[in-house]
Amino acid sequence: MPHDPDLPPAKKFKPGSVFFRLEKNKPGMLLPRKGNVTTPIEVQRKQLPIYHARTRLVNELRQLHNAIVIGETGSGKTTQIPQYLFEAGIGRQGLIAITQPRRVAAISLAARVSEEKRTQLGKLVGYTVRFEDVTSPETKLKFMTDGMLLREAIGDPMLLRYTVVVLDEAHERTVHTDVLFGVVKSAQRRRRELNKIPLKVIVMSATMDVDLFSEYFNKSPVLYLEGRQHPIQIYYTKQPQSDYLQAALVSVFQIHQEAPQSHDILVFMTGQEEIEALARTCRDIAKHLPDSCGPMVVIPLYASLPPAQQLRVFQPAPKGCRKVILATNIAETSVTISGIKYVIDTGMVKAKRFNPGESGLEVLAVQRVSKAQAWQRAGRAGREDAGFCYRLYTEQEFDNLIPTTVPEIQRCNLAGVMLQLMALGIPDVMNFDFMSKPSPEAVRSAVEHLELLGAVERKDAQVLLTALGKRMASFPLEPRYAKTILLSADFSCSEEILSIVSLLSVDTVLFNPSARRDEVLAARKKFTSSEGDHMTLLNIYRAFKKVGGNKEWCRENFVNSRNMGLVKDVQAQLREICLKLNLKLESCGADTGNVRRCLAHGMFINAAELQPDGSYLALDTHQAVAIHPSSVLFQAKPAYVVFNELLHTSRCYMRDLCLVDADWLLDAAPEYFGRKLHLTRS
Ligand code: CDP
Ligand code: MG
Repeated sequence: MPHDPDLPPAKKFKPGSVFFRLEKNKPGMLLPRKGNVTTPIEVQRKQLPIYHARTRLVNELRQLHNAIVIGETGSGKTTQIPQYLFEAGIGRQGLIAITQPRRVAAISLAARVSEEKRTQLGKLVGYTVRFEDVTSPETKLKFMTDGMLLREAIGDPMLLRYTVVVLDEAHERTVHTDVLFGVVKSAQRRRRELNKIPLKVIVMSATMDVDLFSEYFNKSPVLYLEGRQHPIQIYYTKQPQSDYLQAALVSVFQIHQEAPQSHDILVFMTGQEEIEALARTCRDIAKHLPDSCGPMVVIPLYASLPPAQQLRVFQPAPKGCRKVILATNIAETSVTISGIKYVIDTGMVKAKRFNPGESGLEVLAVQRVSKAQAWQRAGRAGREDAGFCYRLYTEQEFDNLIPTTVPEIQRCNLAGVMLQLMALGIPDVMNFDFMSKPSPEAVRSAVEHLELLGAVERKDAQVLLTALGKRMASFPLEPRYAKTILLSADFSCSEEILSIVSLLSVDTVLFNPSARRDEVLAARKKFTSSEGDHMTLLNIYRAFKKVGGNKEWCRENFVNSRNMGLVKDVQAQLREICLKLNLKLESCGADTGNVRRCLAHGMFINAAELQPDGSYLALDTHQAVAIHPSSVLFQAKPAYVVFNELLHTSRCYMRDLCLVDADWLLDAAPEYFGRKLHLTRS
């Protein structure tokens, strides 16, 4: 097994297999290396592997109505193909949409492509993501999240503004991508039937098994791009690791001490909280290392990071300084970061899990990645040169991973999807043309969920959208949040509910540095409400607005001022939707009882009851759950709560709780609680 002479493999790792090379390096074809930022952008475009296939690719794509394009991450698919189409005059009668599963990718790609075209972002090249639209009448290349294109389809089911839709990152199989597959396919067919301008559909992806896709998209041809992948040496741990965070920390510093300073490290982790925590630990330790070690800059990367912060990962580190990027699976394929030589793969990912049979509630769980994901992660180290991947699990654990990730549509609560499909006017949602069908139980449970919320009703074996359901579909939110907002007018507390829903729509507005725990607790105390986390958040938000978003105040109170700024934007947009729906917008002032009543009415499906032994039972599914230690109600243990989400780690935790009365739950859904849960009035 060849070793990099610069780096003796760390003692606890043993060498494993080697990633193979798809194409030999050709001199002069290397991507711009780190630090070499002076390469003009036109030259950079020509250095991409895809450039050599340009003419053939354009000729093929001109003729085809459906095409699947497969190529390694970084080969230039996303940034170049839309430009090639545009430059060749393909689809000039309309817009070219390029969908992305993630906001950060849509934004950074639009920025990159507009830079390549030397235009201002939002002119020729723009983007649309939830709560943000940077496009203009001049826009021809539009990067957008798949969720946004789906929303546009509600008003325009044939997607008539577009002549080309590029469904990118198809292998990710997010629930929105999967629904879009069906929506786009049907739009294409209807346009053909009605003799409209044809819609070209291009599905793009990193390496994957394409048969399913090709079959689904009318036996569409597959165009393979030759990639450039350098050998990657894989290391496994000798022993299973009980604490992957600790293992990641050790690995980062082992590499930092041994590898040349110019080599950057990318660590795959599961979410914002642990990324921020590890980032702080790394920075602390780095300060105390001997001078021989050289400086290190630690950069977090996760979906909810504000765009400006996300863009930091693309900037080269200062000379002589090592860049350590701590990322979620966002860095698997969505974004290409140059300069990465080392990948550390914890083997874990936070993803949705849903089992309609035993627990009807969707759970966010930290779980093992699939083999396909592990290979994608490893591949990030070999973009520009040979690289290394440290897997923080044993080779046997790798062998036991599932081969590919189950599509999200088969493991999430489908209520939101069903509502959207119905709002799209799909006649028979139960038999929608999904590429991978969700189980009948999952569909049934979603319809039940919507029925409980009053969004749909059954008539002669048909499921129909109600007037309320139609209004709910106007919001780019989960059905229960939409319902809560609509209800808030009846409780005269729309302003408060809008604030709360907006606060819950961004990742977290609180900053909890573990090293300053006592200070955090002291600062938080002023806002803590015995009525729960929603009310605590509302108190913080009210105080934030009172001081006019003052940055100093945010720092003193451990509040994330950027995310708070985002909350304001989200709220403004939700308010606009409310105004369109003629919803009365009022504030309940100090009388916050109504806010909790409203939350109970909107979120009653997520209610839990205290048991005599001090544990909790989720009332919908009779599943044992516990209050997350981060909740302000952790000690208080009220009799009844509603919660926002379940997080499965060592136990099933409820996060973001609100204290409610049993009576309110009964009022919200008398039949449901009476029949199912034997809840009685106090
Ligand atoms: O889609 P694919 O993974 O095949 O590649 P891409 O996203 O089109 O990226 C091609 C190259 O463009 C990357 O390797 C980067 O060098 C560059 N790029 C960039 O500098 N900044 C971005 N935001 C996106 C891409
Ligand atoms: Mg791409």
